[in-house]
Amino acid sequence: MAQVDLVIADRLASGVPLVGQVAQYIISAGGKRLRPVLLLLTCGALGYTSSQRFNLAAVVEFIHTATLLHDDVVDESTLRRGRPTANENFGNPASVLVGDFLYSRAFQMMVQANSMRVMQTLADATNVIAEGEVLQLMNMHDASLDEEGYLRVIRSKTAKLFEASARLGAILAGSTEAVEQACAEYGQALGTAFQVIDDVLDYDGNASEMGKNLGDDLREGKATLPLILAMQRGNEAQRQTVREAIETGSVERLQEVVAIVRETGALTATRQAASAEAQRAIDAAGLLPHNVYSQAMVTLAAQLLERRT
Ligand code: IPE
Ligand code: IPE
Ligand code: MG
Ligand code: MG
Repeated sequence: MAQVDLVIADRLASGVPLVGQVAQYIISAGGKRLRPVLLLLTCGALGYTSSQRFNLAAVVEFIHTATLLHDDVVDESTLRRGRPTANENFGNPASVLVGDFLYSRAFQMMVQANSMRVMQTLADATNVIAEGEVLQLMNMHDASLDEEGYLRVIRSKTAKLFEASARLGAILAGSTEAVEQACAEYGQALGTAFQVIDDVLDYDGNASEMGKNLGDDLREGKATLPLILAMQRGNEAQRQTVREAIETGSVERLQEVVAIVRETGALTATRQAASAEAQRAIDAAGLLPHNVYSQAMVTLAAQLLERRT
């Protein structure tokens, strides 16, 4: 990971001062660097040790960071990684444009891997993430969104990059199709569990631990799994409250909505859904060679459910 940080620092360079300033601002705030971790763990599990892995690990982090810059503009979020968001600090135009810089820098860097399969995987992932965010935009304030519709969004906007990160390890290592498929499935399941927990934390988390605000999803009228399940489980009055909150995006009754997702057992059920996905990830990791790296992949999936940040 220290090597990845060196690549990141090196490749942030730009002759345009504002680019470096904004990119540095969000990247130096840290973040969990989970997608690079995933790529390095799969490389480790499959025995790939060339330094190209550091380059591609930085690529997936750049793509992730670009999506965050854009996502915070779209979501009108003001807090990220414990700091004011880039849009809050530098404005929407700078955030959007530096997001574009990071995306295109990632594409310059991935060319260096000199592999069509690598480029195909990352081009597809980036395109699907964009589709997922647009799909979510279309679903805003739609209280009739069901679990399947919700899953479609999160598999695209979040799980796809986890899937690509894990798949890249297998591609670099020249693995068989079956092993590549196991890595992709691990990443997809882990990424899905990760976003489901993220959506739980928007109701059940702590802003200072998470470094982002609670209630952002409700304010935007996002029908995430806690709300979908609360509407299924609640009585008519509870259902009505949640439905209205989604349709109006009003956070005035956030406390009431939080109480409903708790009382109906929707939070617990949502955590169970994440747990099932994490188990799918663990099963997929079991298909890889058994070593300290694949064991770490299992531990990562198991501990994800307890995450608070
Ligand atoms: C935030 O991702 C966006 C989601 C997919 C929920 P992370 O929680 O991985 O963000 P950082 O990089 O650690 O800040
Ligand atoms: C994740 O969605 C955004 C992307 C993966 C592009 P969210 O909107 O739920 O993420 P946060 O909560 O802002 O980190
Ligand atoms: Mg957001
Ligand atoms: Mg969120």
